[in-house]
Amino acid sequence: MEVAAGLGQVRGRIAAACARAGRDPGSVRLIAVSKTKPLELIREAVAAGQTRFAENYAQELREKADALPGVEWHFVGALQTNKAKMVVGRAALIHTCDRLALAQELSKRAKAAGVTQRVLLEVNVGREPQKAGVVPEDAAALLEQVRALPSLSCEGLMCIPPAEGDPRGHFRSLRELGGTLGLRELSMGMSADYESAIEEGATLVRVGTAIFGERAR
Ligand SMILES: Cc1ncc(COP(=O)(O)O)c(C=O)c1O
Repeated sequence: MEVAAGLGQVRGRIAAACARAGRDPGSVRLIAVSKTKPLELIREAVAAGQTRFAENYAQELREKADALPGVEWHFVGALQTNKAKMVVGRAALIHTCDRLALAQELSKRAKAAGVTQRVLLEVNVGREPQKAGVVPEDAAALLEQVRALPSLSCEGLMCIPPAEGDPRGHFRSLRELGGTLGLRELSMGMSADYESAIEEGATLVRVGTAIFGERAR
């Protein structure tokens, strides 16, 4: 019941944010971040109508996607090239492609599996040294390189703004960059800030805590 209640509340807030921004609620897709959460809770979310889930660890994605193949899985964590094969084909969308070496490995694995892997480029909007992501001024060059790879389809941008301060300006800058690059999808907004992300144009919001409760890690 608790997961269903969390989902209901998040859906209501998404609808309200869309109304404030004059957006069609169908233009925003909710991704439930199920990292560390057991299959039992994910099944509760599925029973409440949730169809998209995201994981942060390659191994955890592999286990859960193999156990629950009927839902759409997304990958939103830091991805090491040696773990790319666990994720390719299982994730409908990989949100965290942030460097050429990873893109090349993903394309190689996708080709071997006979699939086209959909990806987003992760952008380090706050230019934080400890964070993953391509800096905004290098995104166009990375996009060009990714587009030249045979088995990847780059559909948009993703960001995790700095924990401190108002994220709105960062969401806006990601939307502007997406516009400049001709990319449609914007993966931005988590439990604390998905409403402002939607007001700034998010098409994919990644919400964990507000649906499933606090995580241990
Ligand atoms: C990339 C990413 N997006 C979204 C989330 C979900 O965050 P929250 O639980 O604050 O909604 C996480 C959580 O680990 C994450 O790593």
